[in-house]
Amino acid sequence: MNLESLLHDRLAPALDAVAGHPVDPAVRSSPHADFQSGAPLALARELGRPPREIAAEVAGKAGLDGLATIEVSGPGFLNLTVSDSLLAEALRATAADPRLGVPAVAAPERIVVDYSGPNVAKEMHVGHLRSTIIGDALARTLDWLGHDVIRVNHLGDWGTPFGMLVEHLVDRGGAADHSIRDLTAFYQDARATFDADEDFRTRARLRVVALQSGDPLSRELWRKLVAQSEVYFLDVYDRLGVTLGPDDFAGESRYQDDLPVLVAELQARGLLAESDGALCAFPAGFTGRDGEPLPLIVRKADGGFGYAATDLAALRHRVATLAADRLLYVVGAPQRTHFAMVFAVAREAGWLPDGVVAEHIGFGSILGPDGKMLKTRAGDTVKLAAVLDEAVSRASAPAVGIGAIKYADLSGDRRGDYVFDWDRMLAMTGNTGPYLQMMHARARSILRKAATAPGEIVPAEPAERDLALTLLGFEAAVTAAARFAEPHRLAGYLHELAAVFSGFYEKCPVLRSADAVLASRLGLTELTARTLHTGMFLLGIEGPEQI
Ligand code: ARG
Repeated sequence: MNLESLLHDRLAPALDAVAGHPVDPAVRSSPHADFQSGAPLALARELGRPPREIAAEVAGKAGLDGLATIEVSGPGFLNLTVSDSLLAEALRATAADPRLGVPAVAAPERIVVDYSGPNVAKEMHVGHLRSTIIGDALARTLDWLGHDVIRVNHLGDWGTPFGMLVEHLVDRGGAADHSIRDLTAFYQDARATFDADEDFRTRARLRVVALQSGDPLSRELWRKLVAQSEVYFLDVYDRLGVTLGPDDFAGESRYQDDLPVLVAELQARGLLAESDGALCAFPAGFTGRDGEPLPLIVRKADGGFGYAATDLAALRHRVATLAADRLLYVVGAPQRTHFAMVFAVAREAGWLPDGVVAEHIGFGSILGPDGKMLKTRAGDTVKLAAVLDEAVSRASAPAVGIGAIKYADLSGDRRGDYVFDWDRMLAMTGNTGPYLQMMHARARSILRKAATAPGEIVPAEPAERDLALTLLGFEAAVTAAARFAEPHRLAGYLHELAAVFSGFYEKCPVLRSADAVLASRLGLTELTARTLHTGMFLLGIEGPEQI
């Protein structure tokens, strides 16, 4: 049961009556009372009346029916204290519910979550890590809330580099699989040959044309490269505990046949103009530093299609064929303008109707200890596989190492950068993954040692009441994380829950109590363990029984 929204609903009519229009009661949990509303303060400014007077009037009108007591505090806040019977009832309902009081959404949406999106024949680097981790947490959370989630892995599997790669594979004897087992080395070799050899460059260019016009041998070799990469990516997802599977790959190449149609449609709507031989859209409201309209290149001067064209085609497909209601693109902050322009052109073209929401879920960079983009000591980009190896070797168990990386990524506002610091993220104390896992394991250990079953929760001590109210905040945290696509809201909640639980068992011995008190404390412990476990699951973090 979401007490916050229950009190919100009780307070709203009183505020509306005083204001003469709808007012958001802004009920929040607070250190000064169970909940607090600051709405009278804003209303007082609007009405030009003393805030405490407004607060008193609202308190007098609020129909709380004994669910809570209300009192004016400070400059004009309303403090709400939930009645013992409401608290007990809310806890009973939550504990009895396998979904911990979080109902499935009444109107499920079809939500496409575009995440990970690594590039074929290139090793995944830490930059792809954030997209993969954040995207997976969002997909899991939306899924669990009852939405119809379609995971899409928009693989970079097309474009000019493949001319070079396929040609290199031909030179290497083509079919020999061992030559592409180490794809990164293969890519680097191809690149070096391309840079050094004029004849190879010419052949690579012809190969792109052959590949794009469907030449069977070129296609077969390209397929091999893609397949080899997919095996590698799936292995990374598996190690990371990420829910992307083989059926979720929908790379750029999928949209090749749509591209000429797309150009024709844009042309028919008068949305394309030629600029230096390229066909560009100039969506309204986008200008460069010089004040000139900013182009989105749809077809390049050489006739090829690039990243923007593929994204337009993918969006059109997601709305028209997949019937999506909401599109999330979990991609780094540098692509902000790219997506804003793609969405704008899609709206102008009629591919993105008003009812469909498209959002770029941007995120900041991972920084090294020097505060600059994370690099190896030699100055290279850090390979994801190496990071995972190190996490597992530094931690007591793979679940702890991987959980630490994920939690470090998810616990801050995604828009910010963060410093990659092994010691900090693996610490057993503080706002870390291992701390959550340890608190969960501690709760499970108490439950294993107990001779009796958890019973009805009847909070008496302040620390019990504190834990009870925190447990009831789960729904608000999950819902907010989903609505704003901000996993840190859930992470922050789980950290708070773990910390409040730790305060609880220090002040209120569980196993050394007896009878109804024991049963109630075991009930709190059990509900804490389940809430932590479910919350970590939604973030993609394992909660082992013991760590
Ligand atoms: N392959 C791209 C990159 O590595 C990410 C793809 C993101 N998704 C998209 N629909 N553009 O930068």
